Amino acid sequence: MMKSFLLTIKPIKYFFRGRNFLNDPHYLEVQKKNRNESLKRPSRTIILNFLLSIKQGKTSYLEIGVRNPDRNFNHIEADLKYSVDPGIEFIENPVDFKMTSDVFFQKLSKNEVLSNDTKFDVIFIDGLHLAEQVDRDIENAFNYIKDDGFIVLHDCNPPTEWHARENFGYRNSPASGYWNGTTWKAFLKWRFNSSINSCCIDSDWGLGIFSKKYQIGKSIEPTNAFFEFSSLDENRKEYLNLIDFDTLKNILLE
Ligand SMILES: C[S@@+](CC[C@H](N)C(=O)[O-])C[C@H]1O[C@@H](n2cnc3c(N)ncnc32)[C@H](O)[C@@H]1O
Repeated sequence: MMKSFLLTIKPIKYFFRGRNFLNDPHYLEVQKKNRNESLKRPSRTIILNFLLSIKQGKTSYLEIGVRNPDRNFNHIEADLKYSVDPGIEFIENPVDFKMTSDVFFQKLSKNEVLSNDTKFDVIFIDGLHLAEQVDRDIENAFNYIKDDGFIVLHDCNPPTEWHARENFGYRNSPASGYWNGTTWKAFLKWRFNSSINSCCIDSDWGLGIFSKKYQIGKSIEPTNAFFEFSSLDENRKEYLNLIDFDTLKNILLE
């Protein structure tokens, strides 16, 4: 009775509810996973530069979703680099093509940007992190990747379902501001394609990689028909073909 009364007083209610929230074991576990993932190395930039470094001749790189280019794009070592972003998260948006990936690929197919026989060595997909969009980005990217090129996806290994939420804007989840969205679902869907090799580097929130040529990992039989997060969580090594960077280097340099 007394407790119910006290909880009608706002500062007291905020104190107890806030304390419960911040001390909740599940919340603390997710916070720990935030920290663990943030500390993993190498970064996407090192992995992307490695993939470019093993190519012969002039290299060409496309980044879908750039935000602040100082975080990755400006550090990419390629002879030709192109960037696409509609400018949702970074107002300055100093990119080559200020548009969504859908518009970019449509224009590319009609020779309205670059030329439709363009082929890239590496395409980095890091735009809108919702499965349907990522799936379309992958499909489009396959039309413009060299036979020995790599398509790379950021955020394929969300540590918890809070990181894999659909809602980017909601920041009061235990994942705080971290957001991987549902990219993992699109990656997994393409892991079922037997003509494509794939793996996911266990670093920087999961770098999913597709290759037509290099044997970086076999496809798997279709599974997890409803793309349930709990099923991913129990089987991430197999579903994603989760490997470390040294293993990838050994495969590609041997
Ligand atoms: C996670 S950030 C990119 C981070 C950057 N690639 C890096 O490595 O630091 C996502 C970016 O995707 C952009 N974006 C959102 N929707 C998009 C779309 N439909 N097509 C392309 N980019 C999109 C946002 O504006 C944002 O800048």
